Amino acid sequence: MATIKLKPSSSVYVTTPIPREALKLLKKHCGEVRLCKDHQALTKQRLLKEVRDADGLFSLLTDKIDEPAIKRMKRMKVIANCAVGFDNIDVAAATRRGIMVTNTPGVLTEATADLTWALILAVARRIPEADRFFRAGKFKEWQLFLMLGAPVFGRTLGLIGAGRVGTAVALRAKGFQMKVLYSDTFRNERIEKEASAQRVTLQTLLRRADVISIHAPLDKDTYHLIGDRELAMMKPSALLVNTARGEIIDEKALIGALRARRIAGAGLDVYEYEPKVPAILKTLPNVVLLPHIGSATLETRTQMALLAAKNLVAALEGRIPPNLVNPEVLKNVR
Ligand code: DGY
Repeated sequence: MATIKLKPSSSVYVTTPIPREALKLLKKHCGEVRLCKDHQALTKQRLLKEVRDADGLFSLLTDKIDEPAIKRMKRMKVIANCAVGFDNIDVAAATRRGIMVTNTPGVLTEATADLTWALILAVARRIPEADRFFRAGKFKEWQLFLMLGAPVFGRTLGLIGAGRVGTAVALRAKGFQMKVLYSDTFRNERIEKEASAQRVTLQTLLRRADVISIHAPLDKDTYHLIGDRELAMMKPSALLVNTARGEIIDEKALIGALRARRIAGAGLDVYEYEPKVPAILKTLPNVVLLPHIGSATLETRTQMALLAAKNLVAALEGRIPPNLVNPEVLKNVR
């Protein structure tokens, strides 16, 4: 890698308020740290303005860093995304311009797996619906047929994507004595050994699983991986959970399947047109909707921000950042 000297004047732009520990780290190592104080996502216009003369960018998954934004970057060395997913960044365009892109894997695995299980159980046992029922004063007496849900214990869990989060979800499934199937481009020996998971084709998984949970990254191969055809392969009693990226599911097809009860229910933490969802989705009783909170614990978000800051500082100091997602950039760095 070419040696890059950290200029005392290195300027970093942070697109959001971040935990104190991460800000401290940036301030200690960078000449200038400019921070957006607003919790709302930056406007396109503001992003274009702020990135122009920055050497480093601390970004969120809501910052769409596309080719026009990258072309505006005159001095940028590194874009440190504070998320494990980096589909908000045009990595190929960054690589062409010699800009390193980093993410934050590992630190959010357990929190996201916990939330996935919260969602699975919430859909299966109709928790939000039962809560609304209770608060509406409708609970008058215990009844044999009140709020019947779907069993989870001993059923089959199908994981689409068996990376870190998929594996953590599978390990938790052991407590429910579930059979675990997974489909992934790569074989994962750990999930097979530690969760007795079996690798199958996507079609087999869709046909056999009672609970299907998505843990794949969003890319051109996973965009709309679940559409009409795939939903039709699922059992009518199946539950579909997505804590990965919304665009992996064709949302229109999912709404059709839920409305027609071609599948029993869905638990969603992410959406195709996030944060927007079609109004009809909010009216369906067999879906649980969360506002993209998979990694939302203070501890996890602090770790994510710290890791993003460490990646950013490493790149500006001329070191290879620990979580570089485009190592091919190293031959292009300016
Ligand atoms: C990620 O990191 O990609 C999640 O979606 C947010 O934690």
